Amino acid sequence: MKDFRGKTIRASGFHAPVCGEIVSFADALIAISNDGLIESVYQAGDSAYDQTLSAAKGDGRLIDLPAGKILLPGFVDLHIHAPQYPQLGTALDVPLEIWLQNHTFPLEARYADLAFARRSYSMLVDDLLASGTTTAVYYGTIHDEANRLLADLCIEKGQRAFVGKVAMDNPAECPDYYRDESIDAALKATTGLIDHIRGHPDNEDGLVRPIVTPRFIPSCTDDLLTELGALAKEHDCHTQTHCSESDWEHGYVIDRHGMSDTESLDRFGLLRAGTILAHGNFLFSNDMEVIKMRQSAVAHCPLSNIYFSDAVFPLKAALQKGLRVGLGTDISGGPSCSMFDSVRSTVSSARQLERGTDPSLSRDKRSTQGDVRIDFREAFHLATAGGGAAVGLPVGAFAPGYQFDAILIDPEAKSGTIRLWPELYEGDQILQTILFTASRANIASVWVGGKHRSGDPDRQ
Ligand code: GUN
Ligand code: FE
Repeated sequence: MKDFRGKTIRASGFHAPVCGEIVSFADALIAISNDGLIESVYQAGDSAYDQTLSAAKGDGRLIDLPAGKILLPGFVDLHIHAPQYPQLGTALDVPLEIWLQNHTFPLEARYADLAFARRSYSMLVDDLLASGTTTAVYYGTIHDEANRLLADLCIEKGQRAFVGKVAMDNPAECPDYYRDESIDAALKATTGLIDHIRGHPDNEDGLVRPIVTPRFIPSCTDDLLTELGALAKEHDCHTQTHCSESDWEHGYVIDRHGMSDTESLDRFGLLRAGTILAHGNFLFSNDMEVIKMRQSAVAHCPLSNIYFSDAVFPLKAALQKGLRVGLGTDISGGPSCSMFDSVRSTVSSARQLERGTDPSLSRDKRSTQGDVRIDFREAFHLATAGGGAAVGLPVGAFAPGYQFDAILIDPEAKSGTIRLWPELYEGDQILQTILFTASRANIASVWVGGKHRSGDPDRQ
């Protein structure tokens, strides 16, 4: 009952393959291959439904999910600093540049200690799986062993992930105790992690992938950025970094390079298909064009942006331009590891942008003009299929060819926080209730690639 590989499940739930459009299904038949891929999805009324149902029943492959439980795609968290988990919910009251120097770099430096790394990373991967994050895009630290351990733990625990060795060699911005010794050392550690992940005997299906990770332009010398761009190309590897996050960071790059983060990253070859740029709050219109042209994507981190950015990401404008966007928790810039909170903050921060905040101004002066609102349908898409498209993986929707990465919501869990009033709901409103009120206790089970990875299988 645990694993769904080779099974056909009958389930009810929701997904959002297209931004803004919710598809609900009731008693759909989802056939899952021995590799964990979705082979077919049939709704009651489809011509193949009855035949598929009786065939699955006939050879004992049918699994009925319990009535009342709701299947959703697993979440794709595009931006996580794995080593920062121990400071989740602390040090949120200082600006980014102070937070990095006084809190974050000292914490990340501790990952030279492998026992500390194991304790923290085990807890993180378990907690994220239990929170419904089936694909995680991680920054590690500068340390070889701890980075390998993080990748190993994702493989062992079965979380789909990208794991990057953080590269940071600029003595002007990085402390002596937490800095790559040299460009060569940073490159060697980056290729070492790529080889470790790609050559891992238990990672033949590529569940975990490497990602080239210059921390952000201020942390890196130009020579290192040049080499990392070349290395990503040579190894055909994803890349990730921070981009135009705060006034300070955005201004720093303009002062140092005479151009925006986006333009500068592009000339280093660091904008590639599937590149994840965290934040992007200060992107110029032209930057968005460049990101789109390169098929790179923005990780919108609304909760972290409240604490560390000096603006709200113009999400609607980015979507209207056709940019790829997904959501991130930015652990620990944001104080929650749950993508439910990213969805909620995506909706609420867009609403604040729309309505403004200064009560001393009249309504017309207080509010941002134009179409900036994001609703739960769009946010749900971004947290699932949108994130999958951003990294170029077939995850986040229930469709043939997609991975069966899913979470099962138990809306009636006593210790949970969903309180349903079905007689009041119409259409997709129950999904809205789930997105805004669910907590970890409402996540009964989690599957990655058809394998049961979290929750109590008997509670399915
Ligand atoms: N910019 C460079 N490093 C970081 C980090 O760890 N978190 C955030 N939010 N921004 C950064
Ligand atoms: Fe970050």
